[in-house]
Amino acid sequence: MKIFTTRQAIHQYLSAQGNAVIGFVPTMGALHNGHLSLITQAKAANDITVCSIFVNPTQFNDPKDLEKYPRPIKDDIEKLEAVGCDVLFNPPVSEIYDGNEQWHLDIGPLEQQLEGEFRPGHYQGVTQVVYKLLDIVKPANLYMGQKDYQQFLIVSRMVKLLNIPVNMVMCAIERDADGLAMSSRNIHLSADDRRHALILSKVLNRVKNEFDVNNIGQLQDDAMRALAAEEGVVPEYFRIANGETLVEADASSKTIVALTAARVGKTRLIDNVLIK
Ligand code: PAJ
Repeated sequence: MKIFTTRQAIHQYLSAQGNAVIGFVPTMGALHNGHLSLITQAKAANDITVCSIFVNPTQFNDPKDLEKYPRPIKDDIEKLEAVGCDVLFNPPVSEIYDGNEQWHLDIGPLEQQLEGEFRPGHYQGVTQVVYKLLDIVKPANLYMGQKDYQQFLIVSRMVKLLNIPVNMVMCAIERDADGLAMSSRNIHLSADDRRHALILSKVLNRVKNEFDVNNIGQLQDDAMRALAAEEGVVPEYFRIANGETLVEADASSKTIVALTAARVGKTRLIDNVLIK
């Protein structure tokens, strides 16, 4: 695997590859099988698979969260080599940001609700960095996880608004055998937290099984109550949403997704399930 830390070096390498089709998987590292499934999917459909590892400071609204974000770069490199990733871009902050950048893209209501409400400014940081990374890598295909469903919609919207010539590919959520969605943050869960965290996927599945478009309010209320009843779990939101706008679903919604976020001990977790 080729590893680059500067824009100039990766640009020089990629532009020398002729018409090779590039698949891109942006990450913040601490790689798990969820990330690696994106790499495998990219490898199957592109000539060159590029992964970036960059813990993006502008998307952390809590400085403590940024500080404690895991950065096991050696392990990450081994994992990427094991799945045959072709190129890693692992820049320092100074290579991406020119000091204190104030610009942001206004994506509208999509970024203000759900995660946007509980993590103000988060998506402005995400669109900033994904825009910059796309400009550097210029991929044909961009692989992002359903795990961060709202992020996928927001990046898709940015790509459309700015006419960025890239095809977005949504990849399914990888879970541990017991149903917990894989996340770089799971390492912060104690053994007890880990057990209590299973309530998220349990409640999401229950709602999927019991889904009734005429009973959405009740299903959401029951889900919030079931989450709050679990020891150590403090739910932030549970919404059965229109899969395109993320406002509460109704009979006219073409796609429907249930999304939730909760604190489990000191760790904040998100998860979702496609209903329709
Ligand atoms: P990160 O949390 O490292 O996630 C990188 C990619 O992996 C995202 O597209 C995410 O949706 C996907 N992913 C995470 N957990 C997954 C799982 N269990 N199954 C499948 N895919 C999973 O998301 C980010 O980084 C950042 O916001 C980023 C887009 C890199 C911008 O900084």
